[in-house]
Amino acid sequence: MKSGRPLPEAGLASSLGQSGRLIRGRSAPPIAICVRDLVVGFGGQPIMQGLDLDVYKGEVLGVVGGSGTGKSVLTRTILGLLRKQSGRIEIFGADLDSVSAGEYDSIERRIGVMFQGGALFSGLTVKQNVQVPMREHLQLSARLADDLAMLKIQLVGLDLDAADKFPSELSGGMIKRAALARALALDPELVFLDEPTSGLDPIGAAEFDALIATLQKTLGLTVFMVTHDLDSLYAICDRIAALAEGKVIAAGPIEAMLASEHPWLRSYFHGKRARQFDPSVAPRVGGVPAGNGRAYPRDAP
Ligand SMILES: Nc1ncnc2c1ncn2[C@@H]1O[C@H](COP(=O)(O)OP(=O)(O)O)[C@@H](O)[C@H]1O
Ligand SMILES: [Mg+2]
Repeated sequence: MKSGRPLPEAGLASSLGQSGRLIRGRSAPPIAICVRDLVVGFGGQPIMQGLDLDVYKGEVLGVVGGSGTGKSVLTRTILGLLRKQSGRIEIFGADLDSVSAGEYDSIERRIGVMFQGGALFSGLTVKQNVQVPMREHLQLSARLADDLAMLKIQLVGLDLDAADKFPSELSGGMIKRAALARALALDPELVFLDEPTSGLDPIGAAEFDALIATLQKTLGLTVFMVTHDLDSLYAICDRIAALAEGKVIAAGPIEAMLASEHPWLRSYFHGKRARQFDPSVAPRVGGVPAGNGRAYPRDAP
């Protein structure tokens, strides 16, 4: 299926490389998610008003915006959990409005989701939570489902004895890891993370960033990450999309965000809580350069 028209990205993002030099003729990278002219609202209150967004395959896209701007609504609408009023959403080139139930199921199997706050089922153990997507989509023996769940639990750095604990017995960091293990249950290509580091202390957040970065690289994931965490943006995001006024007001690498004159971006990236961006200074994720070193161009299309 054909993707929608190409998105005119934030000026700097489309025309400047990291060195600030003009880059011409670079072909656009493959697109995992394409959103065009999306309109979403509740009871007459508009939330998305003609929103356009591309997510490239293999990138970590950070989605930022003020509280209540619709970051979670956008996530849930892309996932088909909330109804849109109009617009077009394609995932892996397929328009979710026109796919068959079978095609929808096979797309869903390629996607993992970590909802805001983790959203673990409180009556299920960690292992059972991780097995929920497996039960929905795969026909596995109990033994294989157990083995796979234990693998995922280890993958996210949880001790094996966490498997039989209930969410109420876990620390905040363990809940995030368990939710990530569930998001990875089906070996997805595309992962949605809604505020993955919120509520964690700075060390816990840095460890979680490092985990996401490592998993992204080793598993070749495309990551759509809603975050308030400036450190995460600097440390692991290839590009950032900023939401305001029901639209993506800018999308591009951090340098483009820092150069933007938009008042919200200026106060977010240059305000009191912001820090000076110095590309020569290592980000907080040990050994993981800030969004660099992946196969797709950060400054495309
Ligand atoms: N299911 C819903 N019904 C009605 N209003 C909703 C619903 N979900 C979210 N909203 C409203 O949409 C707006 C955006 O919410 P949300 O996407 O959760 O914001 P955030 O950017 O903080 O994630 C808020 O005003 C919220 O109250
Ligand atoms: Mg939210």
